[in-house]
This record gives sequence, C-alpha cells and structure tokens, in this order.
Amino acid sequence: MTIATMPAAHPELDAIRHHYEVGNSFYRLLLGPTMMYSGGYWAADEDLHAAHDEAQLRKIDTFIDLAGAGDARRVLDIGSGWGTMLDRVTRIHGAEQAVGVTLSRTQKEWVDALANPRVAIRVESWEDHRADDPYDAAFCVNALEHFVSASLPAKDRTRRFGTFFEKVHSLLRPGAGFVLHTMTAERQPLNRELLQDLKFLQREEFKDCHIPHLHELTAGVEGLFEVVEIRNERESFSQACRVWLTQLAENRAAAVALEGEEVVARFERYLDIFAYTLEDGYFNNFRIVLTRR
Ligand SMILES: C[S@@+](CC[C@H](N)C(=O)[O-])C[C@H]1O[C@@H](n2cnc3c(N)ncnc32)[C@H](O)[C@@H]1O
Repeated sequence: MTIATMPAAHPELDAIRHHYEVGNSFYRLLLGPTMMYSGGYWAADEDLHAAHDEAQLRKIDTFIDLAGAGDARRVLDIGSGWGTMLDRVTRIHGAEQAVGVTLSRTQKEWVDALANPRVAIRVESWEDHRADDPYDAAFCVNALEHFVSASLPAKDRTRRFGTFFEKVHSLLRPGAGFVLHTMTAERQPLNRELLQDLKFLQREEFKDCHIPHLHELTAGVEGLFEVVEIRNERESFSQACRVWLTQLAENRAAAVALEGEEVVARFERYLDIFAYTLEDGYFNNFRIVLTRR
C-alpha cells in the first residue's frame, strides 16, 4: 500500500509518526546539533559524551567513502531523518544532488529549513520512491528496522526484505555503492524482564516493528548486490543510546516542558532497553556494504 492510498489512520504510518513527529525542539535536546539518530564511531580513548558530535560526523564521512558518494552526481538516503547525511554529502563532500525519503513531516520541515539547494526531501515510503535518473550511491541508516511488519509470517517477512533490495537495486546504476546500517536480532534465551521490555518496544514505542535476522537480509541481497563487507558494530549504537540518555537527563526539565512527562519517560525507557540489549548481544548493529550488480 502506498502512502497516497493509506487511510489517514493507517497503523504503520501512525506508528512512525507517533515516534518521529515528537517535536523537532525535543529531538534537538536529545540528539544535539548533529541531529543524527543512529550509531556513532568513537575512537577507543574518547569520552562518549564529549566526542558524540564528532563520532556522528566520523560515521557519516566513513559511510560516504564506503559508498563512493563523495564525488557522486546523485545520492539517495532512505529513511533520512533530519537530513544531516544529505547536507554533508553535498556541502562538504561535493556530491551534486542528494535526495532523502522519510515518513515524518516534521523531519521534512527541518530539512527544508537547512535551505540547501542540492538537497531534496520527500515525505514518502521507500517503496513509493521513483527516479527517472539512477542514483550513484545510496544509504539506509537505522531505518530498515521500520520497513517490515512483525505481524507478517516469517516467509512473507523475508519476501518483503527481498522487495526492499529489489527496489534499491532498481534505483541504482550498476556498480553503485549501497551502505546499510541496521540492527539485527540474535537468537538468545529470553528472560522475563527482556520479554517485557521487547513487548514495550513493539506494542508501545515502535508498533509492529521487526528487527530482522541477518539471514532474512542476505536472502534478499543474493544476485542483486555484491557483498563487500558485513561488520557487527553493535557498540556504535549502544554508545549513542547512552549519550542520548545523558543528554536527555541534562535537559530533562526543558524536554518535559516541551513534550510532557509521559513522552520523556517513554524515551528514557526505550533508550535504556536498546542500550542494554545491544551491550548484552541480544541485538547487533551491522554495517553492510554492497555494490549494485
Ligand atoms: C532512526 S531514524 C534514522 C534517521 C537517519 N538515517 C539517521 O541516521 O539519523 C529512521 C528514519 O526512517 C524513516 N522511515 C521509517 N519508515 C519509513 C518508510 N517506510 N519509508 C521511508 N522512511 C521511513 C523515519 O521517518 C526516520 O527518518
């Protein structure tokens, strides 16, 4: 179903907007000036909080190199958040044009306010994106976790990830780089606390979200992309969650004044769950570098 044909109260759209249309001022307090909502790359001796912004930019720059996007003509960011990647790849690295897709209208307002003439942002789902002119590089950074519904049977979920890779393949020119950063779930024994926390994530904060298993992704990649690299970087995301928790604590009164106690408490709970589940190895955060065949 496309966004255009989705009824206004469609649960998938509502679930994304429930989380991503909490106000931009709140997200600025939480995420800091880089407005990146994904893992960062810290050096071993760095203080997590002090070096957070640098770690986020280092991650973006690494991805741009890996995808060969710096001197690209056209770059696509799928699930582009507040547009920091789009802005940086054009303004600092020299790509000619960067296009982002997001479901969040407030994120679009933020990106529009950057007033970067080389950046275009669309409020649409990845599956609805069309391009007459193929892209030279693409990114999908901690967004894939939202793309496939947990309520689908396992076989259909794998098929849906396959549809995602077919879509990205159709948008890229042969030889184009694609960098995907995504959480994946491990098969691990579950305890009662973990089960309750996972239920909270799935029922209250990220309704119906399915964090994939690695095998669900590799099945979809075969034949369409050459796999260049798969690396587990789970600490990149757990460390970012820890920093955001600190930033939220520092700005708690202002955050409550903006969005209310209930929203702040929800964020505190979900960030803590992601931090500890990544630290304990229940979830991974994979960097997957692909080349379009
Ligand atoms: C965790 S944020 C990551 C944002 C950005 N990539 C970053 O690293 O800061 C996930 C993003 O995925 C977007 N998203 C979720 N479902 C989507 C869909 N079906 N199509 C396009 N974007 C989607 C959200 O709107 C949000 O921008």
